[in-house]
Amino acid sequence: MTQVSHFPADFSWGVATSAFQIEGAANEDGKGPSIWDKFCETPSHIKDQSNGIVACDHYHRYREDVGIIASLGLDSYRFSMAWSRVQPQGKGAWNEAGFDFYARLIDALCEKNIAPHLTLYHWDLPLGLQTAGGWLARDTAYRFADYAQEVAHRFGHRVASIATHNEPWCTANLGYGNAQFAPGVADAKSAIQVSHHLLLSHGLALQAMRQVAAPAQLGIVLNQWTADAATDSAADRQMAELEYARSVQWFMGPIFKGHYPELALRAHGVNAPVVHEGDMAIIHQKIDFLGVNYYFRAYCSAEVPPRPAPAQQGVTDMGWEIYPQGLTELLLKLHAEYTLPSIYITENGMANADQVEQAKVPDAARIDFVREHLAALAKAMAHGVDVRGYFLWSLLDNFEWNSGYSKRFGIVHVDYLTQQRTLKDSALWYRDYVRQQRAIHVAA
Ligand code: FCB
Repeated sequence: MTQVSHFPADFSWGVATSAFQIEGAANEDGKGPSIWDKFCETPSHIKDQSNGIVACDHYHRYREDVGIIASLGLDSYRFSMAWSRVQPQGKGAWNEAGFDFYARLIDALCEKNIAPHLTLYHWDLPLGLQTAGGWLARDTAYRFADYAQEVAHRFGHRVASIATHNEPWCTANLGYGNAQFAPGVADAKSAIQVSHHLLLSHGLALQAMRQVAAPAQLGIVLNQWTADAATDSAADRQMAELEYARSVQWFMGPIFKGHYPELALRAHGVNAPVVHEGDMAIIHQKIDFLGVNYYFRAYCSAEVPPRPAPAQQGVTDMGWEIYPQGLTELLLKLHAEYTLPSIYITENGMANADQVEQAKVPDAARIDFVREHLAALAKAMAHGVDVRGYFLWSLLDNFEWNSGYSKRFGIVHVDYLTQQRTLKDSALWYRDYVRQQRAIHVAA
């Protein structure tokens, strides 16, 4: 058993969710449709043929959910705003009823002293903008900046942070590269152009939000991994280097260095993105924080069939290798390569086939997972990486994208027939862990 790590007294302890995955109320109070509403209409897109129409009904049960976060003694909550709820077409008129919902949610959080961390875009583009070309259209980046400015104007003084995008790698590669996610396009060239427009939109949104001069910290959330070569062969090593360049450096390079990584650009060849003069300067702007989502490492094998990851510590219900030391390695690598701002671990967690048994949900595997990842995080911090907080994914079991409701990531179990919430053992463990961390400082 790992010894308990020590985190700073002002470290933020939280949980994360996203709008489409929990809110439901897909057609209520003037909300417009998003690309995920549309994507779910094709049954083959989602494993259990489900959709987000009701999800966890958080739109109506947000008070109960905030109460749960408070009961766990957590001080931070990361959520996303559904763009089409506050601007149904993605341009033009604002929907006051939509903004009212987020105002109520923020009120409820503040009442309980829970710091709200808002993400502007967690994959649910207003359908109206998709019809106009979606993220392949450069204009969408400008529409995003308008939306960001309006949100900063309304909420920038009430939330602790605003992240522009959640995991643009996924928006680009799963949405446009392999069609696993909405809008369901499979075209390598489009995916790369989309990634550029996402980065551009991030930069434009920062500029637009900074004009508002609200106190919220501004940043972006990237999913990241280290890429390990399966063997020492030149082919495996090259593959790992390229994987890292195309995923991590592809987003980190423009933001922190003002250019795309050479290796990846060369590999993309004719698919390299069209970049207008001045774009890179817009993207390469100071951010107040970097959100890192960490789930697994990339294991790179050029053999046919590829060598599978050893998974010495097992795999999750998603089939993802459990590899906590990858979090230490990733953070140290980023720290060495870039001049980083403060970091938040904005997502980390695991899917587990949890079941309610006599009003309890035993999920020992998740407890181990979180404990090991926190130990790995503490290790990176001991080596000088400035990490300010940790958000467990996720508060609730929820709509896990193309897996529908078949994968459970929550520390709180949701019965989708009754909407009953049941704290899993991991929720109680996390509560105690955080309590213990705070006690260390009180005692000191
Ligand atoms: C991340 C997403 C989040 C959730 C977790 C499991 O990639 O940001 O919405 O699906 O994975």
